[in-house]
Amino acid sequence: MMMQQNNVLLSLDGVSLAFGGLQAVEQVSFGVARGTVKAVIGPNGAGKTTLFNLVTGFLSPQAGRIVFQGEAIQGRPAHRIARQGIARTFQLVQLFDHMTVLENVMVGRHRLSRAGLLAGALQFPWTRTEEKVIRHKAMEVLEFVGLADRARQSAAVLPLGLKRMLEIARALASAPTLLLLDEPASGLDAVETERLHDLILELRRQGITTLLVEHDMGLTMEVADEIAVLNYGKLIADGPPRAIQKNPEVIAAYLGTDWQT
Ligand SMILES: Nc1ncnc2c1ncn2[C@@H]1O[C@H](COP(=O)(O)OP(=O)(O)OP(=O)(O)O)[C@@H](O)[C@H]1O
Ligand SMILES: [Mg+2]
Repeated sequence: MMMQQNNVLLSLDGVSLAFGGLQAVEQVSFGVARGTVKAVIGPNGAGKTTLFNLVTGFLSPQAGRIVFQGEAIQGRPAHRIARQGIARTFQLVQLFDHMTVLENVMVGRHRLSRAGLLAGALQFPWTRTEEKVIRHKAMEVLEFVGLADRARQSAAVLPLGLKRMLEIARALASAPTLLLLDEPASGLDAVETERLHDLILELRRQGITTLLVEHDMGLTMEVADEIAVLNYGKLIADGPPRAIQKNPEVIAAYLGTDWQT
Protein backbone atom coordinates (compact mmCIF):
# COMPACT_ATOMS: atom_id res chain seq x y z
CA MET A 1 0.00 0.00 0.00
CA MET A 2 1.53 3.30 -1.07
CA MET A 3 1.04 6.35 1.09
CA GLN A 4 -0.27 9.40 -0.69
CA GLN A 5 2.34 12.13 -0.50
CA ASN A 6 -0.10 14.70 0.91
CA ASN A 7 -1.16 12.23 3.57
CA VAL A 8 2.32 12.06 5.05
CA LEU A 9 2.48 14.06 8.26
CA LEU A 10 6.03 13.14 9.23
CA SER A 11 8.79 11.65 7.15
CA LEU A 12 12.31 10.62 7.99
CA ASP A 13 14.84 10.35 5.22
CA GLY A 14 18.26 8.87 5.86
CA VAL A 15 18.34 10.01 9.48
CA SER A 16 21.55 9.11 11.31
CA LEU A 17 23.16 9.76 14.65
CA ALA A 18 26.25 8.21 16.27
CA PHE A 19 27.34 8.56 19.88
CA GLY A 20 31.12 8.35 19.50
CA GLY A 21 31.69 5.06 17.71
CA LEU A 22 28.19 3.76 18.38
CA GLN A 23 25.79 4.21 15.46
CA ALA A 24 22.54 4.61 17.45
CA VAL A 25 20.40 5.53 14.42
CA GLU A 26 21.65 4.66 10.94
CA GLN A 27 20.09 5.85 7.69
CA VAL A 28 16.53 5.48 8.93
CA SER A 29 13.74 6.39 6.51
CA PHE A 30 10.01 5.97 6.99
CA GLY A 31 6.78 7.93 6.82
CA VAL A 32 3.90 8.47 9.21
CA ALA A 33 0.52 9.01 7.58
CA ARG A 34 -1.74 11.68 9.01
CA GLY A 35 -4.35 10.37 11.45
CA THR A 36 -2.70 6.97 11.95
CA VAL A 37 -0.88 5.18 14.75
CA LYS A 38 2.63 4.16 13.79
CA ALA A 39 4.62 1.97 16.14
CA VAL A 40 8.38 1.75 16.35
CA ILE A 41 9.56 -1.53 17.85
CA GLY A 42 12.86 -3.31 18.30
CA PRO A 43 15.17 -4.75 20.96
CA ASN A 44 16.63 -2.74 23.83
CA GLY A 45 19.22 -0.32 22.52
CA ALA A 46 17.85 -0.45 18.95
CA GLY A 47 17.67 3.35 18.81
CA LYS A 48 13.94 3.96 19.39
CA THR A 49 14.27 6.62 22.09
CA THR A 50 17.14 8.23 20.20
CA LEU A 51 14.84 8.47 17.18
CA PHE A 52 12.21 10.19 19.35
CA ASN A 53 14.86 12.61 20.61
CA LEU A 54 15.77 13.43 17.01
CA VAL A 55 12.16 14.07 15.96
CA THR A 56 11.47 16.26 19.00
CA GLY A 57 14.68 18.28 18.77
CA PHE A 58 16.30 16.95 21.95
CA LEU A 59 19.06 15.73 19.61
CA SER A 60 20.19 16.83 16.14
CA PRO A 61 20.84 14.24 13.45
CA GLN A 62 24.29 14.12 11.86
CA ALA A 63 22.68 13.27 8.54
CA GLY A 64 19.26 13.05 6.99
CA ARG A 65 16.05 15.03 6.90
CA ILE A 66 13.00 15.06 9.17
CA VAL A 67 10.01 16.67 7.48
CA PHE A 68 6.91 17.58 9.46
CA GLN A 69 3.92 19.08 7.66
CA GLY A 70 6.11 19.82 4.66
CA GLU A 71 8.85 21.59 6.63
CA ALA A 72 12.32 20.29 7.41
CA ILE A 73 12.61 20.42 11.20
CA GLN A 74 15.80 18.46 11.90
CA GLY A 75 18.19 20.37 14.14
CA ARG A 76 15.60 22.87 15.33
CA PRO A 77 15.45 23.45 19.09
CA ALA A 78 12.94 21.36 21.04
CA HIS A 79 10.77 24.30 22.11
CA ARG A 80 10.31 25.35 18.50
CA ILE A 81 9.36 21.87 17.36
CA ALA A 82 6.92 21.63 20.28
CA ARG A 83 5.30 24.88 19.16
CA GLN A 84 4.89 23.46 15.68
CA GLY A 85 2.67 20.73 17.11
CA ILE A 86 4.78 17.78 18.23
CA ALA A 87 4.33 16.62 21.84
CA ARG A 88 5.88 13.67 23.64
CA THR A 89 6.03 11.58 26.75
CA PHE A 90 9.17 10.04 28.22
CA GLN A 91 10.25 6.43 28.77
CA LEU A 92 10.90 7.32 32.40
CA VAL A 93 7.96 9.48 33.47
CA GLN A 94 9.04 13.12 33.86
CA LEU A 95 6.53 15.05 35.93
CA PHE A 96 6.89 18.06 38.19
CA ASP A 97 6.53 16.25 41.49
CA HIS A 98 6.18 19.43 43.55
CA MET A 99 3.18 20.52 41.47
CA THR A 100 -0.40 19.31 41.46
CA VAL A 101 -1.86 17.13 38.75
CA LEU A 102 -3.65 20.16 37.29
CA GLU A 103 -0.53 22.34 37.32
CA ASN A 104 1.40 19.65 35.47
CA VAL A 105 -1.16 19.78 32.66
CA MET A 106 -1.19 23.59 32.69
CA VAL A 107 2.55 23.55 31.99
CA GLY A 108 1.79 21.61 28.79
CA ARG A 109 -0.86 24.16 27.79
CA HIS A 110 1.52 27.11 28.13
CA ARG A 111 3.00 26.30 24.70
CA LEU A 112 -0.06 27.95 23.17
CA SER A 113 -0.25 30.90 25.51
CA ARG A 114 0.94 34.38 24.66
CA ALA A 115 2.52 35.13 27.99
CA GLY A 116 4.44 31.93 28.57
CA LEU A 117 5.49 30.33 31.79
CA LEU A 118 7.65 33.06 33.27
CA ALA A 119 5.08 35.83 32.90
CA GLY A 120 2.50 33.41 34.26
CA ALA A 121 4.62 32.85 37.33
CA LEU A 122 5.11 36.61 37.79
CA GLN A 123 1.35 37.18 37.58
CA PHE A 124 1.28 40.23 35.35
CA PRO A 125 -2.32 41.50 35.20
CA TRP A 126 -2.78 40.61 31.52
CA THR A 127 -1.75 37.03 32.20
CA ARG A 128 -4.55 36.38 34.72
CA THR A 129 -7.35 35.94 32.19
CA GLU A 130 -5.09 33.79 30.08
CA GLU A 131 -4.28 31.74 33.18
CA LYS A 132 -7.99 31.08 33.66
CA VAL A 133 -8.34 29.82 30.11
CA ILE A 134 -5.32 27.59 30.53
CA ARG A 135 -6.72 26.21 33.78
CA HIS A 136 -10.06 25.50 32.12
CA LYS A 137 -8.45 23.75 29.14
CA ALA A 138 -6.22 21.74 31.45
CA MET A 139 -9.28 20.55 33.40
CA GLU A 140 -10.90 19.47 30.14
CA VAL A 141 -7.88 17.36 29.26
CA LEU A 142 -7.86 15.82 32.76
CA GLU A 143 -11.52 14.92 32.32
CA PHE A 144 -10.71 13.37 28.96
CA VAL A 145 -8.07 11.04 30.43
CA GLY A 146 -10.12 10.33 33.56
CA LEU A 147 -7.96 12.23 36.05
CA ALA A 148 -10.25 15.17 36.87
CA ASP A 149 -10.94 13.93 40.40
CA ARG A 150 -7.19 13.99 41.08
CA ALA A 151 -6.63 17.56 39.85
CA ARG A 152 -5.64 19.01 43.25
CA GLN A 153 -3.45 16.12 44.36
CA SER A 154 0.30 16.27 44.18
CA ALA A 155 1.56 14.51 41.06
CA ALA A 156 4.11 12.72 43.24
CA VAL A 157 1.52 10.58 45.01
CA LEU A 158 -0.10 9.11 41.89
CA PRO A 159 0.46 5.43 41.14
CA LEU A 160 2.64 4.82 38.07
CA GLY A 161 -0.29 4.02 35.78
CA LEU A 162 -1.90 7.37 36.51
CA LYS A 163 1.43 9.17 36.25
CA ARG A 164 1.73 7.85 32.71
CA MET A 165 -1.82 9.05 31.98
CA LEU A 166 -0.96 12.45 33.45
CA GLU A 167 2.10 12.73 31.25
CA ILE A 168 -0.07 11.98 28.21
CA ALA A 169 -2.55 14.61 29.43
CA ARG A 170 0.24 17.18 29.68
CA ALA A 171 1.30 16.37 26.11
CA LEU A 172 -2.31 16.61 24.90
CA ALA A 173 -2.77 19.98 26.59
CA SER A 174 -0.57 21.53 23.91
CA ALA A 175 -3.11 20.37 21.28
CA PRO A 176 -0.49 18.47 19.30
CA THR A 177 -0.85 17.29 15.72
CA LEU A 178 1.66 14.52 16.39
CA LEU A 179 1.99 12.71 19.71
CA LEU A 180 5.06 10.61 20.54
CA LEU A 181 4.65 8.04 23.30
CA ASP A 182 7.80 6.28 24.55
CA GLU A 183 6.79 2.98 26.16
CA PRO A 184 3.54 4.26 27.68
CA ALA A 185 2.47 0.75 28.80
CA SER A 186 5.69 0.09 30.69
CA GLY A 187 4.83 -0.67 34.33
CA LEU A 188 1.08 -0.69 33.71
CA ASP A 189 -1.19 -3.52 34.81
CA ALA A 190 -3.74 -5.15 32.48
CA VAL A 191 -6.56 -2.75 33.36
CA GLU A 192 -4.36 0.33 32.90
CA THR A 193 -3.03 -1.04 29.61
CA GLU A 194 -6.60 -1.54 28.38
CA ARG A 195 -7.37 2.08 29.28
CA LEU A 196 -4.28 3.21 27.37
CA HIS A 197 -5.38 1.11 24.40
CA ASP A 198 -8.78 2.84 24.37
CA LEU A 199 -7.18 6.27 24.76
CA ILE A 200 -4.83 5.79 21.80
CA LEU A 201 -7.72 4.69 19.59
CA GLU A 202 -9.90 7.58 20.80
CA LEU A 203 -7.10 10.02 19.93
CA ARG A 204 -6.92 8.51 16.46
CA ARG A 205 -10.67 9.01 16.07
CA GLN A 206 -10.09 12.65 16.93
CA GLY A 207 -7.48 12.92 14.19
CA ILE A 208 -4.32 12.96 16.29
CA THR A 209 -1.39 11.10 14.77
CA THR A 210 0.60 8.93 17.18
CA LEU A 211 4.11 7.57 16.99
CA LEU A 212 4.37 4.83 19.57
CA VAL A 213 7.41 3.06 20.97
CA GLU A 214 6.23 0.00 22.85
CA HIS A 215 7.43 -3.42 24.00
CA ASP A 216 3.89 -4.68 24.78
CA MET A 217 3.26 -6.50 21.50
CA GLY A 218 -0.38 -7.28 22.29
CA LEU A 219 -1.13 -3.58 22.62
CA THR A 220 1.09 -2.62 19.68
CA MET A 221 -0.47 -5.08 17.24
CA GLU A 222 -3.96 -3.93 18.25
CA VAL A 223 -3.49 -0.18 17.94
CA ALA A 224 -0.84 0.25 15.23
CA ASP A 225 -1.76 0.85 11.61
CA GLU A 226 1.87 0.41 10.64
CA ILE A 227 5.00 -0.74 12.41
CA ALA A 228 8.61 0.23 11.78
CA VAL A 229 11.20 -2.15 13.21
CA LEU A 230 14.64 -1.01 14.31
CA ASN A 231 17.60 -3.25 15.07
CA TYR A 232 21.03 -1.85 15.96
CA GLY A 233 19.92 1.55 14.69
CA LYS A 234 18.78 0.28 11.30
CA LEU A 235 15.28 -0.01 9.90
CA ILE A 236 14.79 -3.70 9.13
CA ALA A 237 11.06 -3.67 8.33
CA ASP A 238 8.17 -1.25 7.87
CA GLY A 239 4.59 -2.25 7.20
CA PRO A 240 1.23 -3.33 8.57
CA PRO A 241 1.20 -5.48 11.76
CA ARG A 242 0.34 -8.74 9.95
CA ALA A 243 3.31 -8.44 7.63
CA ILE A 244 5.62 -7.49 10.50
CA GLN A 245 4.53 -10.54 12.55
CA LYS A 246 5.49 -12.85 9.68
CA ASN A 247 8.72 -11.12 8.72
CA PRO A 248 11.56 -13.61 9.34
CA GLU A 249 14.15 -10.91 10.04
CA VAL A 250 11.86 -9.26 12.62
CA ILE A 251 11.12 -12.61 14.25
CA ALA A 252 14.84 -13.39 14.46
CA ALA A 253 15.81 -9.95 15.79
CA TYR A 254 12.97 -9.24 18.15
CA LEU A 255 9.64 -11.02 18.18
CA GLY A 256 10.95 -14.57 18.56
CA THR A 257 9.52 -17.64 16.88
CA ASP A 258 6.90 -18.30 19.54
CA TRP A 259 5.13 -14.96 19.18
CA GLN A 260 1.45 -15.41 18.33
CA THR A 261 -1.43 -13.06 17.68
N1 LIG B 1 23.23 10.13 25.23
C1 LIG B 1 23.80 8.99 24.85
N2 LIG B 1 25.14 8.86 24.83
C2 LIG B 1 25.73 7.71 24.44
N3 LIG B 1 25.06 6.63 24.01
C3 LIG B 1 23.72 6.69 24.01
C4 LIG B 1 23.02 7.86 24.42
N4 LIG B 1 21.69 7.64 24.31
C5 LIG B 1 21.56 6.39 23.84
N5 LIG B 1 22.77 5.80 23.67
C6 LIG B 1 23.03 4.47 23.12
O1 LIG B 1 22.40 4.42 21.85
C7 LIG B 1 21.79 3.15 21.64
C8 LIG B 1 20.31 3.35 21.39
O2 LIG B 1 19.71 3.74 22.62
P1 LIG B 1 18.16 4.04 22.74
O3 LIG B 1 17.92 4.55 24.11
O4 LIG B 1 17.75 4.89 21.60
O5 LIG B 1 17.54 2.59 22.57
P2 LIG B 1 16.03 2.11 22.70
O6 LIG B 1 15.69 1.41 21.42
O7 LIG B 1 15.18 3.21 23.14
O8 LIG B 1 16.13 0.99 23.85
P3 LIG B 1 15.09 0.59 25.03
O9 LIG B 1 14.09 -0.34 24.42
O10 LIG B 1 15.96 -0.13 26.02
O11 LIG B 1 14.51 1.85 25.57
C9 LIG B 1 22.10 2.32 22.86
O12 LIG B 1 23.23 1.53 22.59
C10 LIG B 1 22.38 3.36 23.93
O13 LIG B 1 23.25 2.85 24.91
MG1 LIG C 1 14.04 3.61 24.78
